[in-house]
Amino acid sequence: MSTKTLSAVEKEVSVAAVDAPVPDTETIRLLNARGTVRNFKPDPIPDSWVDALIAASQRAPTSSNIQAYSIIVVRDAAIKAKLAELAGNQQHIIDCPVYFALCADLTRLRYACELHGQPYPGKSFESGLVASLDATLVGMTMSMVADSMGLGSVMIGGMRTKPLEVAKTLNLPPRVYVVFGLCVGWPKAPPLPKPRQPMSAVVHYDTYDNTKLGTGIAEYDQDLAAYYRKRGMKTPDHAWTLPLSEKFSTDKRKRLKLELNEMGFELE
Ligand SMILES: Cc1cc2nc3c(=O)[nH]c(=O)nc-3n(C[C@H](O)[C@H](O)[C@H](O)COP(=O)(O)O)c2cc1C
Repeated sequence: MSTKTLSAVEKEVSVAAVDAPVPDTETIRLLNARGTVRNFKPDPIPDSWVDALIAASQRAPTSSNIQAYSIIVVRDAAIKAKLAELAGNQQHIIDCPVYFALCADLTRLRYACELHGQPYPGKSFESGLVASLDATLVGMTMSMVADSMGLGSVMIGGMRTKPLEVAKTLNLPPRVYVVFGLCVGWPKAPPLPKPRQPMSAVVHYDTYDNTKLGTGIAEYDQDLAAYYRKRGMKTPDHAWTLPLSEKFSTDKRKRLKLELNEMGFELE
């Protein structure tokens, strides 16, 4: 047997010629067409699909292979209703057939330390951040996999508005918190992809270019306003800068730091 067949899974690295056409991959097409879905049909999602969705998403990279996350699959109507209320009455949590709570979870890391008689580091900013990143990467992957299955999703940061009450509702042990939720279901209509800031505003080469602040933002305000108007929504002309300046002028989620600390996370 040749070495080539032995390493069939390890694809040969091919380097594209400078003038090679940009590949039109399924993933690129999927991402260019994606958008948040908030209106779901009531149809259920088969358990086998949920399992496949989770299994594929677990392929996400994870810091030091800690896999410091847990996923709670919520189908129970009463629990979804409570979570919807805690997230500020978000109806899509009630409407979606399956709701996933993406948790940062340090319990298994602590277990591994204790199993081998090592002191668990306790609260640390780094481990809290790592667990939050792990949960986020799995959640983003779930959203993409859901799209690839013809499903749609919306992430729910509203889980961090009242984290302790969310924890009680989901019976979370210490050292676990919900970073965000993910409503998944069958879209009533395909999403209309929301425009993004131009690359000129967000990409820097080699080092950070401090002169580009403001570049492309006026253009983006207009693009976003046009998008909202196309969707029949009311919007100011400065569709991005104005609402955000108002929303972020006051400190948001003041109880978050205190409550996460109580739950075993040092994130400050
Ligand atoms: C971490 C995170 C939390 C979010 N939380 C909410 C939420 O609580 N409710 C909601 O309706 N949308 C939520 N969203 C969706 C964003 O509003 C949406 O992704 C953004 O406006 C961009 O639109 P698009 O996803 O359609 O491109 C959240 C998105 C992220 C990444």
